[in-house]
Amino acid sequence: MNERTLASRIFRKIQSRIHPVIDVSDEYTDLLAGANAGWLERGNLHAISYAIKNLPSEAPIIEIGSFCGLSTNLITYYKGKHGRTNRLVNCDKWIWDHEDRYIGDSAMTIKEYLAFALDTYKRNVNLFSRSDLPETIKEFSDDFFGLWREGKQVEDIFGKIVMLGGPISFCFIDGNHAYEFAKRDFENTDEFLEAGGFILFDDSADGTQWDVARVRDEVIRTHRYEIVMKNPNYLFRKK
Ligand SMILES: C[S@@+](CC[C@H](N)C(=O)[O-])C[C@H]1O[C@@H](n2cnc3c(N)ncnc32)[C@H](O)[C@@H]1O
Repeated sequence: MNERTLASRIFRKIQSRIHPVIDVSDEYTDLLAGANAGWLERGNLHAISYAIKNLPSEAPIIEIGSFCGLSTNLITYYKGKHGRTNRLVNCDKWIWDHEDRYIGDSAMTIKEYLAFALDTYKRNVNLFSRSDLPETIKEFSDDFFGLWREGKQVEDIFGKIVMLGGPISFCFIDGNHAYEFAKRDFENTDEFLEAGGFILFDDSADGTQWDVARVRDEVIRTHRYEIVMKNPNYLFRKK
């Protein structure tokens, strides 16, 4: 472990003592997280639940970075729990750089791994969100927002014809965490997010090593967003 990582871990440990994470996990979220692969920060449950409960309108919810569908299925769960019927439109291309690279010492390539992740996504969402399927667009977020801006009609991965465009009420940003990408995800979201709408940045906690921290600080400096919570990731509301 390098010094930066160690310092970050110590910082997070101290932070979690001062501001303990509110964990609203229940039987369903525990069982879902046990069966559905993914990266879950438990504090996100409270942030997602809060945002969905307090959505300012019926405008769509956007998710950037769906992977195997864990956060997608959690968003669907909280929609049901809070009786919200906003559409959930999400995007992921299941393509990374250096796809022909073998993973670790295995004989498996990144490309094979991602094909499996996409297959898993479909199975997970078809089961856990079966009564409220998301509209899943197989695109990188920049291209997704380009289509959104143009108000395009597209076919999603389940074969449904989907109309894109218009205001959005909440965006969960969990795609490419490199600065330029996370920044553009914010700018694109900001363009369509209505007043009172929410943005949750994954991996934005104080002390994080991810570039998302730089974007988070820039959002704060716009003075156009209030911090609703740090649990430990930042949930913002547009003023
Ligand atoms: C950390 S994972 C998302 C985890 C997921 N939200 C969960 O609950 O497990 C990041 C995902 O973002 C996707 N991704 C990477 N770059 C992206 C981009 N430019 N646009 C959209 N998705 C992207 C990756 O394919 C990957 O599935």
